[in-house]
Amino acid sequence: MKRRSLIIGSAAALGLGWLLRPQEQGADHSPYFTDLSAALDRAQLAKPTLVVDRSRLLANIRTLRGHINDRFDYRIVVKSLPSLPLLETVIEASGSQRLMVFHQPFLNRVAAYFPQADVLLGKPMPVAAAHNFYRQFAGGGFDPARQLRWLLDTPERVKQYDELARALGQDMQVCIELDVGLHRGGVRSDEQLIAMLDLLTASEHLEFCGFMGYEPHIVKVPLGSAESHRDKAMAVYQHYIDVAQAHLGPQWPKEALLNAGGSPTYQMYNEGNYPINELATGSCLVMPTDFDMPTLADHEQACFIATPVLKALDTLQIPGIDLGAVQSLWDPNRARTFFTYGGYWKALPESPRGLFNNSLYGRSTNQEMLNGSRNIHLQPDDWVFLRPTQSEFVFLQFGDIAVYDEGGIVQRWPVFDQEPG
Ligand SMILES: Cc1ncc(COP(=O)(O)O)c(C=O)c1O
Repeated sequence: MKRRSLIIGSAAALGLGWLLRPQEQGADHSPYFTDLSAALDRAQLAKPTLVVDRSRLLANIRTLRGHINDRFDYRIVVKSLPSLPLLETVIEASGSQRLMVFHQPFLNRVAAYFPQADVLLGKPMPVAAAHNFYRQFAGGGFDPARQLRWLLDTPERVKQYDELARALGQDMQVCIELDVGLHRGGVRSDEQLIAMLDLLTASEHLEFCGFMGYEPHIVKVPLGSAESHRDKAMAVYQHYIDVAQAHLGPQWPKEALLNAGGSPTYQMYNEGNYPINELATGSCLVMPTDFDMPTLADHEQACFIATPVLKALDTLQIPGIDLGAVQSLWDPNRARTFFTYGGYWKALPESPRGLFNNSLYGRSTNQEMLNGSRNIHLQPDDWVFLRPTQSEFVFLQFGDIAVYDEGGIVQRWPVFDQEPG
């Protein structure tokens, strides 16, 4: 190649590369986050804090009710809303007393705090955990024999629970977990289902009360439409109902509980006829980022991590490899550096817009580096907001939730702890 064309070619490549460099994305807080910052300051908060926006939470409950619309009963997924006062708010606004619980200490809490609740386990628990529930249950209005439904997945587990029920002289209601396509356990054959039903029928203390068939895969499988996967899952569900009804005859429970659904899928049942009678959701009421999906487009972001800026620098410096200036020359979103109070949560930066982690510098749970453009004017003691990617674990990491409503922090809601209480 001639030298001149080599030079022209290289210059063109450089020019093209320059055009392809990251676009500036930074902006200061929107009025919503400016107001929220002021509210946190007025409440004298100064550490990483989980914020729930109550009016958005209530709007999400109205949206949910609009879709479910008396077509199904609604069950509140406790793990995704892990705070008693938060659950109380949802119970009041949704009108549902049905809860789905996934953790034994939380089960004891819920039984003590919501004596009217109807509680379904969301996963099969080791029988020793069930035993611990009864050991730690302090009595009160909640009657486990009537209001608690264990979820069992295999004939072996039915035998274990039967033994426990006999040892305790305790009646127990049992739902059977179905595999309707998620392949996370549960009944996978007619023989397995019939074996479980026979054990339950023979048991003096256990009573079969329905099915749970969770199907979040229907909106996630890459091939085929969500509708076709929903229909397949519901056909499997219907099949197991038919098998059980044929096997049990008149002993099929009069008010069988037929649970399905989760936040990603609940709007898939807005129209049409399905064998289920109950949908369970939790996350869609607070909307962590994992739930940013077309089936939840009408739900509002209602939870944030707020954390103070400790340090704000007008440069980016990385020890040893001093690529800082090159990084910011190439990417205008690397021009400024902020260190936040804490970090490395399961969360994504939300506001100010255009904040990024720096993988070259690394992550920190103590003081996390974030970079942004010169259009971000954060100063020490300002707030940065992130959105949790999920609620169930993240909500538990900050102490009491700060409840934001009408421009102020109006309440603090304790979250669950790991002790039965
Ligand atoms: C059995 C079951 N039902 C429902 C849900 C839905 O919960 P969410 O609406 O918070 O996604 C889950 C979530 O893991 C689940 O495991």
